[in-house]
Amino acid sequence: VNVEFEWLKRAAGERAAELVEDGMRVGLGSGSTALAFVGALGQRTRDGLRVTAVATSEQTAEAARSAGIELVQLDAPLDLAVDGADAIERGSLAAIKGLGGALVRERLVAEAARRFVLIADDSKLVDHLVESQPDIPIPVEVLPFGWQLTGARLSAYGEPKLRGSEAGKPFVSDNGNLILDLFGCDWREPATLAARLKATTGVVDHGLFLGLASTALIATPAGVAVLNAGAPR
Ligand code: 5RP
Repeated sequence: VNVEFEWLKRAAGERAAELVEDGMRVGLGSGSTALAFVGALGQRTRDGLRVTAVATSEQTAEAARSAGIELVQLDAPLDLAVDGADAIERGSLAAIKGLGGALVRERLVAEAARRFVLIADDSKLVDHLVESQPDIPIPVEVLPFGWQLTGARLSAYGEPKLRGSEAGKPFVSDNGNLILDLFGCDWREPATLAARLKATTGVVDHGLFLGLASTALIATPAGVAVLNAGAPR
């Protein structure tokens, strides 16, 4: 564990928790940075803030419950959603998400929120998303039924690799689906790529989050920088 990153994640999470106002319905992202936000929000609720929240994964739901945050279903718009990312593009705040395997619920929550805020340490910030490859693929969640053929369709856009779990078996998402990690994609038109992935039969969703985040809180050793989408880089 990189202690500095842990500290930075906590700083970003705490800063995001300051955005939450009394009575808000809040979306809780997934992954270690999002869990830092859940911890900080839990502290605020113990100090008297009243919120209800929607969790994007079973792991986050468990953390929220133990932090004393009241969980509700995603049955209405949210005021704010806060989530981590695997890579965030300076300027546009386009992001790659889903290395933690929660991308389907993460997008549902992000799109339900009036304001979607990304939190990360500065190692996640890139000038162009394309730079993050080959290390960071685009995760694509697919139905288990016929997944090999879905994979063959996806190979028109990159090289799909079935994600495994630590036990050596395929990784299974909270939705009971598989993840194909797409490497070596053609990034010239990210919006076209995103639309094609979404339109592929057998695909539930993908981890390209374009035009969703309005703000990114990026923790650096010098402090937490507030980046707004569309602002000069
Ligand atoms: C999970 C995600 C996470 O937000 C992403 O993987 C970042 O995780 P971490 O904060 O642990 O680096 O998209 O699906």
